Amino acid sequence: MTITFIGHGYVGLVTACVFADFGNDVWVIGRTPEKIEKLKNGDPLIYEPGLAELLQKNLRADRLHFTLEYDKAIPSSEIIFVAVGTPPKENGEADLSTVFHVAENVGKYLKKGFTVVSCKSTVPVGSNLEVEKILNHLKSDHSEVAVASCPEFLREGTAIYDTLNPDRVVVGSNSQKAVDKLLELHKPLPGERVITDLASAEIIKYASNAMLATKISFANLISLYAEKTGGNINIIMDAVGFDNRIGLRFLDAGIGYGGSCFPKDVMALINTGQQIGVDTSLLDAVEEINREVQNNFIEKVKKNVIGKNIALWGLSFKPNTDDIRFAPSLYIIKNLLQDGYKITAYDPAAMENVKKILKDEINYASDPYETTKDADALCILTEWNEFKQADLHKVKLNLKTPLIIDGRNIYQPHMLKQIGFKYISTGRKEVL
Ligand SMILES: NC(=O)c1ccc[n+]([C@@H]2O[C@H](COP(=O)([O-])OP(=O)(O)OC[C@H]3O[C@@H](n4cnc5c(N)ncnc54)[C@H](O)[C@@H]3O)[C@@H](O)[C@H]2O)c1
Repeated sequence: MTITFIGHGYVGLVTACVFADFGNDVWVIGRTPEKIEKLKNGDPLIYEPGLAELLQKNLRADRLHFTLEYDKAIPSSEIIFVAVGTPPKENGEADLSTVFHVAENVGKYLKKGFTVVSCKSTVPVGSNLEVEKILNHLKSDHSEVAVASCPEFLREGTAIYDTLNPDRVVVGSNSQKAVDKLLELHKPLPGERVITDLASAEIIKYASNAMLATKISFANLISLYAEKTGGNINIIMDAVGFDNRIGLRFLDAGIGYGGSCFPKDVMALINTGQQIGVDTSLLDAVEEINREVQNNFIEKVKKNVIGKNIALWGLSFKPNTDDIRFAPSLYIIKNLLQDGYKITAYDPAAMENVKKILKDEINYASDPYETTKDADALCILTEWNEFKQADLHKVKLNLKTPLIIDGRNIYQPHMLKQIGFKYISTGRKEVL
């Protein structure tokens, strides 16, 4: 099949590479000439494990083509996926201007006969019908088009694995022909098939992300309890999660969720709720708790660190990605800077992205130990694997005061006590 992706970010590029690897002829449309040149040369532009190799393999096989021009890709495509960003506006509403803009370009170049246009971008309920209106207005009389919502559930850091192993493939459309085409394309993939109407498919994506964010905030709420009452949040949430009705995943307490999806999708769901008159106070609380745990971390620093020099490990919103959109680290750093702290940070993948935002407001180290030299405390904000078995004796020698404040509970308190640290983690007793 010949298919097109518009947008080459975490969703567009990964999915394009996977479908090219299945033998499809895949076009990817971008808007920035330098980026398209780099992609043509095998540079994925983003950090995602395994992506560079998959991109290069499919470029060599001539199954992947990058272009700026819609007329090169659209007229030959049977399915067109829109995978551009849908960032939040100030009021939380999803900004759909790029989705509608690319729909206008697509409409002009649709081939004779039948084409499916499918939003992989996360868009509020009703948006696909707006896209359909644009397409029908601009297409020629010889073209037939149907829209379908085919929401994406991949996780950054394991995006290729997730695309190859989806728990479910959701296809929402009012056109049976569009559903059949999308099912044919997804044939090599495992997972449940959920075939439904457009509105349900659009809502499924938001409901899934809101549910996961709610689990995280719930664990964080209980963690705040445990900190005040003396329980151990890891044991508590494990025991809660052993109940099959609840499940173990997404119950890790810490400094909250971030990234390009949960914060914006919860905001957008709240915004839609306000527009249609649905009480979203459950989701308001999910957001509030997420902010509260970040403020709680900042308070721990202010209360416990003697001196102003902070070593900081982890900037990305989670491990195995360079994505820093809505990363808790940015909020925490900005607050600490306002209080006069000096920060030296290390992250295995996200430092270049942070430099673009914070510039020289903080220092950047080339390895984790360098951050700790003469620092008054070490703060851990992302649970990268390379921090989990770091040489803590070396860290202790480097630090002025043997103090670790851990927002992700990556160490066992008794081990840190043995080495001689004061260890303040999340939802667990401090050790001295
Ligand atoms: N990142 C994730 O883990 C994830 C998972 C599921 C769903 N989603 C959703 O998928 C969508 C894309 O997310 P992402 O993380 O891939 O975003 P991204 O910012 O990484 O990528 C967006 C892409 O769109 C391109 N783009 C922007 N304007 C364009 C234009 N006018 N013409 C052509 N291309 C244009 C950008 O160059 C970029 O390549 C969002 O709606 C997001 O909510 C993301």
